[in-house]
Amino acid sequence: MKEQGKIWMNGKLVPFKNAKVHVLTHALHYSTAVFEGIRCYKTTKGPAIFRLQEHVDRLFKSAKIYSMKIPYSKKEISDGIIKTVQASGLKECYIRPIAYYSYGVLGLTPTPNKVDVAIACWEWNTGESSAGKVRGARCKVSSWLRIDSRSQPMQAKAASNYANAALARVEALKDGYDEAIMLNYHGKVSEGSAENIFTVIKGEIATPPLNAGILDGITRDSVIKIARSEGINVVEREIDRDELYIADEVFMTGTAAEVKSVTEIDNVLVGDGKPGQITRKLQETFYEASRGRDERFSDWLVPI
Ligand SMILES: Cc1ncc(COP(=O)(O)O)c(C=O)c1O
Repeated sequence: MKEQGKIWMNGKLVPFKNAKVHVLTHALHYSTAVFEGIRCYKTTKGPAIFRLQEHVDRLFKSAKIYSMKIPYSKKEISDGIIKTVQASGLKECYIRPIAYYSYGVLGLTPTPNKVDVAIACWEWNTGESSAGKVRGARCKVSSWLRIDSRSQPMQAKAASNYANAALARVEALKDGYDEAIMLNYHGKVSEGSAENIFTVIKGEIATPPLNAGILDGITRDSVIKIARSEGINVVEREIDRDELYIADEVFMTGTAAEVKSVTEIDNVLVGDGKPGQITRKLQETFYEASRGRDERFSDWLVPI
């Protein structure tokens, strides 16, 4: 990671190198952290943060589910995000706010510890996004099942959810694929390890509902809105594994991935094995909207 600019730690901007935590920080041992992944894009009106309010709202929702009290207001966190990006001098970057139980008392119970908040940003390496954009991603249905809300609240973007996701991601990579697709305890499709998933059949888009154990993705919401504004029907419904193999198109969405085409699943080609027409249209419109070139979605961008 290229160390550039400063990191906001509990209200103060500190040099990137000095943003350290104690090795006995509670979150490091027990995953007691909630976080966000946000993008700042170079737009026609200068650098702008994509759907800032929605990301900050989700961070607070995640903390609430875990009864974690973030000791800052939403406005203070939003201002902190903007200041961190400004201090970096970057025109485009990935932003990572995190709230976590810090150093003090190390045992399972997190609450005796203070909640600390940090916000960092760095230049985004597009490697993760580009696989699906240029040639389409090759995915594997994971042998790991997606945990669901009976075990852990999936509406929280919590560090603890990512142990399950990382197992799936690593398994897929080791087996020579680009990404994993995870089924839930009911055997239905849930999402990728860090992306939501969609199928396209006969011009209609389908995506699993929130109760399939998925994160309520902000790119998912953006793409649904874009598709509907283009007159494409989008339904939220259960998706069986079989459907992935016979769909005309499959794509994934996420802050890191943006809109990523999936062209092969378990060595079966999706459609003709090339990124589909609807996926391409959504990729293009999402690209234009996030770069401030589509007036219909201009309120998604907060210039800094
Ligand atoms: C598990 C999971 N699902 C979906 C997403 C996509 O969410 P978003 O579009 O808000 O980045 C992410 C990424 O944050 C994720 O980690």
